[in-house]
Amino acid sequence: MSFPVKEIKTTPYDGQKPGTSGLRKRVKVFQQEHYTENFVQAIFDSVDAKDQTLVIGGDGRYFSPETVQTILKIGSANGVAKFIVGHNAILSTPAASNIIRKYKAYGGILLTASHNPGGPNNDFGIKYNMSNGGPAPEEVTNKIYAKTKSISSYKVIESDPVDLSKIGSFTYGPTKVDIIDSVKDYVELLESIFDFDLIQSFLLTNSDNFKVLFDGMHGVTGPYGRAIFVDKLGLPPSSVQNAVPLPDFGGGHPDPNLTYAHELVENVESRNIQFGAASDGDGDRNMIYGKGAFVTPSDSVAIIADWAEEAIPYFKNGVKGLARSMPTSKQIEYVAKKKGLTCYEVPTGWKFFGNLMDAGKLSICGEESFGTGSDHIREKDGVWAVVAWLNIIAFANKKSPNQLVGIKELLQKHYALYGRSFFSRYDYEEVSSEGAQKLVDNINEHITKDSLLKTTHESKSTGQSFTVSETVNFDYTDPVDGSVSKNQGQIIRFSDGSRVVFRLSGTGSQGATVRMYVERYVAPEKGAAVLNGDTAEGLKGLIEVALEISKLKEFLGREKPTVIT
Ligand code: G6P
Ligand code: ZN
Repeated sequence: MSFPVKEIKTTPYDGQKPGTSGLRKRVKVFQQEHYTENFVQAIFDSVDAKDQTLVIGGDGRYFSPETVQTILKIGSANGVAKFIVGHNAILSTPAASNIIRKYKAYGGILLTASHNPGGPNNDFGIKYNMSNGGPAPEEVTNKIYAKTKSISSYKVIESDPVDLSKIGSFTYGPTKVDIIDSVKDYVELLESIFDFDLIQSFLLTNSDNFKVLFDGMHGVTGPYGRAIFVDKLGLPPSSVQNAVPLPDFGGGHPDPNLTYAHELVENVESRNIQFGAASDGDGDRNMIYGKGAFVTPSDSVAIIADWAEEAIPYFKNGVKGLARSMPTSKQIEYVAKKKGLTCYEVPTGWKFFGNLMDAGKLSICGEESFGTGSDHIREKDGVWAVVAWLNIIAFANKKSPNQLVGIKELLQKHYALYGRSFFSRYDYEEVSSEGAQKLVDNINEHITKDSLLKTTHESKSTGQSFTVSETVNFDYTDPVDGSVSKNQGQIIRFSDGSRVVFRLSGTGSQGATVRMYVERYVAPEKGAAVLNGDTAEGLKGLIEVALEISKLKEFLGREKPTVIT
């Protein structure tokens, strides 16, 4: 049987340039005539998926089911042999990465705008991943962008839509379509990594004094969380909240941080819960929060790296290397140094880790932006991080059976050994692009002229003084493929080892977002009272100085940040 391919005339749209993690725009933008079709055809014009298998999934946000049908239509007309599609269009980003790798697919198309709000008036996104399960490199996304600028038609097969609610094998024109269970393969993957028996027995023995609460934030991870925490680990159903994925995330902002995951924070505090965790819309981010103990992501990855080899079966043959993104604090470096491991410093964006993993140089890595993961897949992995923490806690308690070791105890033990990099990030969201540019230009001028070098700045409120020792723009040369990424953030270093970084966000969908990252190291000798102190207190003086040097308030016209993490 032959299937007529129809060619539909179109004209290019401006601005279909994929950002850090694919093309993200308002739903209304994607709903314009031919807009989504153009971008999907541009993908097929840029990657040779003829006769290949592709995975389709996403975080279930508004406009996903329609887009799956669009991809089937266009993909089939472009000769794709088989699509593996998540049940009801759902696959978390880590689950999709796993499916691509496990079933040796050619690549995958992920329908997500990650942690951005969803619904008819919010964001949608389309992201292409490669056969290694990781986000497409710039070389590919640039090609896709170039194609969107010259597109004049796209191809479709006309066939009835596939019913995404039915698991099984179907045909779509000349193409095979497998609708698969969204959760099963991922649960199997985690079972092959962690010591589920140990975690389960710890949770069972301590069911009265160690309670767990996982918040799916109405994103994609609810069903994954329920399968793992309730069905596998035997926790009560009340251990998961907001666990039904909703197309608009229940009207919330599905980003696991102290601001947007406040419901989790409040419940943990008021219900005396020892272990709280949340994941974002598409399931690749995570936040770990115990009663009175927020784990900053920079510490989270350092602690996982510290315990991995002895506690987590997947790493029992050794950890190959560690890595952090540049703005992430140096906490993981102290661990690397002690263990004699290399710690790479890459620009913001998970794809940079992927190259190192493919080359066998990297096992565990993380970003301050609530991303933590390992080389089990090529995306960061929210639920993986949560189970890693539970595995480590279960193991630590086996080692010291006489005292309950929770999140707070693990943190304090870690600081006592390595010292602590106090870390915080200030976000100024949706500021004017001109203001943001002026801020960047001003710091760049300082960098070029060395005009801040050796200047000393005193904090009025704390009396601390900070002397600038270096100002630099972060450039990166990939040690694997030699590719160069320039201007990845502006760093101001101080003589006591503290630093401040300024960076423009690459993931927003409107205006500009300025991020200011501050970090100050305190050595173990300073003692527990200082080491275990409050982050805001520990960074107060440095933040004051950073704001003064950068003239941030002046340029952005903002007295306060929108979000502090
Ligand atoms: C996405 C990427 C992360 C990255 C983050 C940066 O979540 O997957 O790897 O850290 O974006 O976002 P930003 O808004 O700071 O550019
Ligand atoms: Zn995400």
